[in-house]
Amino acid sequence: MIIAIDGPAGSGKSTIARMLAKRLGFKYLDTGAMYRALTWKALQHGVDLKDANALCQLMDQTAIELRSTGDGLQICIDGANVTEKIRLPSVTNNVHFISNTPSVRQRMVKLQRTLASEGNIIAEGRDMGTVVFPHAEKKFFLDAEIEERARRRHGEMNLPENEISYTDVIKDIEIRDKRDTTRDNSPLRKSEDAIYLNTTKMLVEEVISRILKELESVIKK
Ligand code: DC
Repeated sequence: MIIAIDGPAGSGKSTIARMLAKRLGFKYLDTGAMYRALTWKALQHGVDLKDANALCQLMDQTAIELRSTGDGLQICIDGANVTEKIRLPSVTNNVHFISNTPSVRQRMVKLQRTLASEGNIIAEGRDMGTVVFPHAEKKFFLDAEIEERARRRHGEMNLPENEISYTDVIKDIEIRDKRDTTRDNSPLRKSEDAIYLNTTKMLVEEVISRILKELESVIKK
């Protein structure tokens, strides 16, 4: 069974997807982490991020793995644990080069489908319901007002005060929203059959309960 969760940056989808996977005993497919992992490797190897052929070659020579551990999900590239490194600002600021390259996306989608064929999964990203898993048993589109998304992101960053201001986080999210929704390849949009949840005023636990309720019909089968 595949449950698809899409939404913009800071909508809470990673937290929700991780918790749901744990509750249901499903695998968590963090597809943003996959794009981030390849970005990290490209930066390490000094690959030109605008060179689609070089990026494809890199992807073909790279093993991206998502390992479930007691602590959560571990992201490995060629066997090395890069779980924390892929959250660095250098990766966040450059990942759009990778995610907007059609030939790289094709390869990622193939890999995502292969990983999903291994069992029940919660697939989280931007194009899960629209492109990668159009036949997912249930689809959710999580959203929240930008101020709330920025507040969550700023809180998560856990930085010494004033290192990055809340205003800068809002600006950063605006840029990411624009990139995600206006790109030519698999732009972020709600699949027609996805359930829309605005989580601005919802606690994590409320979102989880709501989703579990929606899943009752498919999971009982
Ligand atoms: O969810 P995230 O911030 O970790 O995602 C990192 C980037 O990857 C984000 O800028 C959008 C892109 N992405 C994508 O294009 N398609 C996906 N399925 C997941 C993420």
